[in-house]
Amino acid sequence: PPLTTPPLDPLKIIQQELLLLRTNITTLLGAGHPSLDRVAKYYFAAEGKQVRPLIVLLIAQATNGLSPDFPRLKWLGERTQDKLDDPLTGKEVLNDYNPHMPESSSAFSAPFLLSPPHPPSIEPHPPPLQALAFPFPPHILPTQRRLAEITEMIHVASLLHDDVVDSSPTRRNAPSAPAAFGNKLSVLGGDFLLGRASAALARLGSLEVVELLATVISNLVEGELMQMRPLALPDAGASAGMEAGELFPPAQPQAQEPQAQARLMAWQHYMQKTYLKTASLMAKSARAGVILGGGGRLDGGIEVKDVAYAFGRNLGIAFQLVDDMLDFTSSAATLGKPSDGADLRLGLATAPALFAWEEHKEMGELVARKFEKEGDVPRALELIHTSSSIPRTRELAEQHVTAALDALSLLPESGAREALRGLSGEVLLRSR
Ligand code: FPP
Ligand code: MG
Ligand code: MG
Repeated sequence: PPLTTPPLDPLKIIQQELLLLRTNITTLLGAGHPSLDRVAKYYFAAEGKQVRPLIVLLIAQATNGLSPDFPRLKWLGERTQDKLDDPLTGKEVLNDYNPHMPESSSAFSAPFLLSPPHPPSIEPHPPPLQALAFPFPPHILPTQRRLAEITEMIHVASLLHDDVVDSSPTRRNAPSAPAAFGNKLSVLGGDFLLGRASAALARLGSLEVVELLATVISNLVEGELMQMRPLALPDAGASAGMEAGELFPPAQPQAQEPQAQARLMAWQHYMQKTYLKTASLMAKSARAGVILGGGGRLDGGIEVKDVAYAFGRNLGIAFQLVDDMLDFTSSAATLGKPSDGADLRLGLATAPALFAWEEHKEMGELVARKFEKEGDVPRALELIHTSSSIPRTRELAEQHVTAALDALSLLPESGAREALRGLSGEVLLRSR
């Protein structure tokens, strides 16, 4: 063996982490009913972008050790073995989150579960929270690894519900869950994911983290609702932890312009919705990752968790802006889901439409009637492609990426921090 080990590439390490993540999630989602089992695991069969767990894992690596509590927390994480005593038998069992129904329990003789033969209803999950024996610092704590799994489970739960809400036929280059299993199973599958994610969350042992991720779930619903009611008052669904002026609103319209007020309201509504629907999960899970690592303060007294939150929030907003742009610039084949103005067809005015509105007054009427009249969608597409709306959307995304990078630059230099920088750049370059 070589005498000196080559420098470790954090993204390579993380790649191994992401493989493990999918295996662990599948184990966390074991269900006795075959249909439930299938729908719950369905979206994990195809590889998603896994951006959310990637953020959590890299933030953990970039910030672990900044708190004097870190060594103690590491031990705490390793100690958590996911074993508990079955209150009925007194025997130690792997935590299946339902100690009243261990595999041997008579509960499984329920006739509907007996035929056809099926795997044990509750697999021994979750897998024990063990630290992987990667021979380098800084270690990712087992609790942080589990948090990464939880964020992906919450995200996929929201996709299961979203594809019902949007009646979307495809996802991840395959029939969507509603197309494959129907709406009812998709909704229940999403609920099941949230349940398993919540139990795993409680096990992390931090009430602050439980509260953050529970709030993410309500934020996702609030964001979805704002999207379904496009011209609701801008403060509908507030509670998002944003302050006015934080979101880089585009150039303020002239006060005397007749449509200016409506456009400004539409922008505020859109940015708030974007935070709730996409950035909240990234911001709050990054913050939660730091909390599990013990938190800590940087020189100047800045809390590390605030830095992680600012990074996740800005990256999340940039991510959604690019997503909304790709709906006009990337093909359905590349995206693996509907494209070419799919949002317009759902009645949604996203950033490109709102920027086009600044150049073409006509867009205001189309937005107001949610592109419902015959010919509205092709006309809106024309207005979008004959204005500077696409480059301006990209520019706005770039501003948020810059803010995310500014937050990162507060952290001490590390390979993980550089990987987060790389990830931020990729958000702007991605085509799917
Ligand atoms: C994808 O958006 C959807 C979301 C990011 C959130 C959807 C949230 C809900 C349906 C509320 C229920 C939430 C939970 C946690 C169960 P999109 O439709 O713009 O993206 P797409 O093009 O990928 O479908
Ligand atoms: Mg959708
Ligand atoms: Mg949707």
